[in-house]
Amino acid sequence: MKLFIDSANLSEVSDCLARGVVSGITTNPSILAKEPKTDFVAHIKKIAMLCHEHKQLVPLSVEVFVREAKDMVAQAVELVDKIGYENINIKVPIGWDELEVIRVLVARGIRVNCTAIFSEAQAILAANAGATYVSIFMGRLKDVGGDPTFVISNTRKVLDQAGSKSQIIVGSIRHARDITDAHLAGAHIVTAGLALLKNGVLHPQTDKSVDGFLSDFQKWLK
Ligand code: E4P
Repeated sequence: MKLFIDSANLSEVSDCLARGVVSGITTNPSILAKEPKTDFVAHIKKIAMLCHEHKQLVPLSVEVFVREAKDMVAQAVELVDKIGYENINIKVPIGWDELEVIRVLVARGIRVNCTAIFSEAQAILAANAGATYVSIFMGRLKDVGGDPTFVISNTRKVLDQAGSKSQIIVGSIRHARDITDAHLAGAHIVTAGLALLKNGVLHPQTDKSVDGFLSDFQKWLK
């Protein structure tokens, strides 16, 4: 039932860390591009600083933004070095050449979150290459008529059978219900935006109950 926040927004990340409800942070280039234009590394460092301030050195995933395998390795090494955060994870999209990127980074002691995964085969290959996390995209798979819960549960079975240490992160969450469905299907972790995480505390009966308690008590006080 682990939750990560899928955001690069400083106030959103801080809000979640303050409540102790997330145990990790995931970003991607599109998520970063929603923030006011600034120096990329400086911005990620600010997120890392928030983790320090909240005394929660949670895994923080940052994605490479180059295409060629050798450039990915060089960029990943540079990011790890420049960001200087103890629990950085480098996101590498799944692909044939990218598997070698994962292997090289892991051999250098860099943790990898292999991303943009839509099938069991992709997840298994990423896990075999040494990825710490395999990120399955739920909403985007539904968009093309796929069955993400089936893929998640099959992947979890195979990873467990093999005794793999790789963990499934399910992202691309579109509805609050997806969070529960992904966990029930076997996700180790679900990463979602703040609005969806916040939605989890809401229930009309909660408001009705609390309003009732307070008004009964006010009447009794008079
Ligand atoms: C996960 O790691 C990705 O950042 C993310 O969840 C993608 O989600 P989207 O389909 O909402 O862009």
